Amino acid sequence: MKADLRTVTVPLGPRTYDVRIGPGLIDDAAAQVGPFVRRGRVLVVTEERVADLWLDRLRAGLGDIAAPALVLPPGEGTKSWDGLTRCVEWILDARPERADVVLALGGGVIGDLAGFAAASVLRGLGSIQVPTSLLAQVDSSVGGKTAINTRHGKNLVGAFHQPRLVLADTGTLTTLPDRDMRAGYGEVVKYGLLGDAAFFDWLETNAAGVLAGRADAVTRAVERSVAMKADIVGRDETEAGDRALLNLGHTFAHALEAATGYSDRLLHGEAVALGCALAFDLSARLGLCSQEDPSRVRAHLAALGLHRDLSDVPGRLPGPEGLVDLMGQDKKVRDGRLRFVLARGIGQAFVTSDVPHDAVLDVLRDSGAA
Ligand code: GLY
Repeated sequence: MKADLRTVTVPLGPRTYDVRIGPGLIDDAAAQVGPFVRRGRVLVVTEERVADLWLDRLRAGLGDIAAPALVLPPGEGTKSWDGLTRCVEWILDARPERADVVLALGGGVIGDLAGFAAASVLRGLGSIQVPTSLLAQVDSSVGGKTAINTRHGKNLVGAFHQPRLVLADTGTLTTLPDRDMRAGYGEVVKYGLLGDAAFFDWLETNAAGVLAGRADAVTRAVERSVAMKADIVGRDETEAGDRALLNLGHTFAHALEAATGYSDRLLHGEAVALGCALAFDLSARLGLCSQEDPSRVRAHLAALGLHRDLSDVPGRLPGPEGLVDLMGQDKKVRDGRLRFVLARGIGQAFVTSDVPHDAVLDVLRDSGAA
């Protein structure tokens, strides 16, 4: 393996797998994917924009391994019942056996959809994730969460289905639109904020290099993020406990995404960055961390042009009460109570349901909710 490639292992007993990180992995796909392939083929699920850029290259990398592909429309709308039907029927048309592998080539939408189809067909085909967005490389391709959206909300129908392998080819990020790179960074900074103050320090110096696509900085950021996620998922695969830490910023983020109709007005990673800023505001307001911590978070996000206040979201938003109502529709509600990930400082997050309603409303008001 080339020197600039890294491997992080997700430790899950018999379902342990590697996340391989670095440039050029797609070109090496036959060697990487080969050990998991039966019957000389993988079933590729991808979307139009990614297929134009990377499908031929993946097929060349796969060499003699056949790679029939389903190319779906891009965008969140594909992660739907219709998208799932198309994906499942296409896989069934290929007359699969349990040993077959579905390979998801794309961002979070394709990874979640193809992963869920793989979990469902014949009660579980193999799955390999080849994430091509920063968000998918650092978060959604790792840890086995798969899902589609329904009219009731985002990711409400799905399954835990761990992949056999994740190939995070950081070279694919060179063609990622700037806004998607920045949004994906929202998930990267989340890891520093939730559990690794030294990583946050490093990001304060190096994030501009990550966003500019500096290869060493990108690899380091993806590797550290994935290592933190692997450690947490290894301890708590199904979110009975610590895995909820990965939801730092997400209680706010999901309400804001619902309020903006899951549209281009606010991308998921942008909402997560904003949600992290609000989670630190709330922590400081409750006296859990010093006032300097939210100021530091906000300054970092501002320096990178990321969202940190409700006033950064274009168009009108519901008022504070409306946003809290939307939070109540989230999966993270337990026994009817909202759960937040708060922090005792940078890198010291914890999960709690013990948050006064008024404090949440005040934070939303201060951040620009009218
Ligand atoms: N994206 C949060 C998790 O995988 O648990």
